[in-house]
Amino acid sequence: MDFFIRDLNHTEADGLIYPLFQDDSEENICGCVKSQVDKLKKAGKFKGEAGELFYTVKEVEDGFQYTLLLGLGKKEALSSETIRLAYAKALKKVKELKLNNVLVKMFESNEVCIKRRVKAIYEGMILANYKFDKYLSEKKESSIKEVFIKGIKEEDKVKAEEALGEAKVLASAVIEARELVNEPANFLDPKELAKRAKNIGKEYGFQVEVHEKDKIEELGMHSFMEVAKGSSRDPRLIVMRYFGDEANKEDILGLVGKGLTYDSGGYSIKPTDGMVTMKSDMGGAAAVIGAMASIAKMKLKINVVAVVAACENMISGKAYKPGDIISSMAGKTIEVLNTDAEGRLTLIDAVHYAIEKEKASKVVDVATLTGAVLVALGNTTTGVVTNNNDFYKELEKASELSGEKVWQLPAFDEYKKLIKSDIADLKNIGGRNAGTITAGLFIGEFVQNKPWLHLDIAGTAWSESEKEYLSKGGTGAGVRILYYLAKEKSCKESCNK
Ligand code: BES
Ligand code: ZN
Ligand code: ZN
Repeated sequence: MDFFIRDLNHTEADGLIYPLFQDDSEENICGCVKSQVDKLKKAGKFKGEAGELFYTVKEVEDGFQYTLLLGLGKKEALSSETIRLAYAKALKKVKELKLNNVLVKMFESNEVCIKRRVKAIYEGMILANYKFDKYLSEKKESSIKEVFIKGIKEEDKVKAEEALGEAKVLASAVIEARELVNEPANFLDPKELAKRAKNIGKEYGFQVEVHEKDKIEELGMHSFMEVAKGSSRDPRLIVMRYFGDEANKEDILGLVGKGLTYDSGGYSIKPTDGMVTMKSDMGGAAAVIGAMASIAKMKLKINVVAVVAACENMISGKAYKPGDIISSMAGKTIEVLNTDAEGRLTLIDAVHYAIEKEKASKVVDVATLTGAVLVALGNTTTGVVTNNNDFYKELEKASELSGEKVWQLPAFDEYKKLIKSDIADLKNIGGRNAGTITAGLFIGEFVQNKPWLHLDIAGTAWSESEKEYLSKGGTGAGVRILYYLAKEKSCKESCNK
């Protein structure tokens, strides 16, 4: 499905998506649908509420012509997210009606500027169109091939084209991330993840270096190796670099993604139900790879390094065990009380590597880290732990721009006591309570006071069902919010509405 900005007539396409606000005044409604809308409103069949959909069909010479009325709610309440959700719904209807091409009429808004309107329409439709069908023998071809956005004011056209270009890059990066998460662990192991990262690097324009087991050992990444050693599939350390701001060489944003290509729990084994979706335990890695792709392709003026410690958490005679005391690249010792709390053990070495070897001056780690974040926030919101409120404010801005919801959790010193061990420097679990916070703070012990954000995407990286613009399975969570975080740092977007 491809998008164009083009002013075609209704007769030149199979259908028209016509947006309507709940409080649209008569004169704003085009003659082509006015009498219909009047009647529908009087009959109480269509009010224009956000996401409401009503369609009519007219027989024409060589087929049918559809008009889809799409509600956008109250004018002042409009947001990018309302637009994404509404157009995702419209796209699903367009597919159900088997339309090949459709016109999307642009609308005016004081709340959401033209760039963000274009982006939101595109994202809503294109992300709703994605489906992981690689392993289906019979694929269901989507009918819809072309979408034409029409009715953009002449003075807005350049901005709209620009926004469409950016939206295309961002959505393709999200889809790359979804593809990585959806690929089963029998195909996507650490070696394959590294290969895919390399290919994506080539395509989008960033450098990828991959270290194998011997080098990981040589670097002293003991904690990472302890998790990795139970699997017959060797680990990889994936390092991605993009330098877009040569003038500020010391400013380096470090992105660290959890890259467990499979998490069985190890000897603290998971029940089957909890294990079936654990191919998604590299959702953080997918997020940082997707973010690198979009940052590089858009040539943002920023320096970014991304690090993924990729491995599998398995059971074997070589695997680490509950009760073991292990070391880490930073030299701190850790008492392993639960082998299923493995993500943090890989992340601390990756974070330490990013700071020590790649000179990251700020760190964001992204990880499918705890089941507890699902209990606390459900699957709509990413939980955040930070040591720096200003950095969190920047993330909130990126959240607003991307529509990816975040919520800050408390990080008081009292919580830090919960991960102190009597026989080692730290222990890898903090007990039943406050699981997301203690997991985050465990990583925080390794950030050397650099500004740091920890994003627990265990609830948001995976969707059990198809929802609006989220497909079933990997959602690509993290890609867009990280992109906007980087973009906010690289420049102030002129349009913030
Ligand atoms: N990968 C899991 C977390 C997870 C759970 C991700 C559900 C996605 C959905 C992580 O490695 C894990 O097992 N965490 C444990 C920590 C516990 C042992 C302290 C958990 O959440 O149960
Ligand atoms: Zn685990
Ligand atoms: Zn895990």
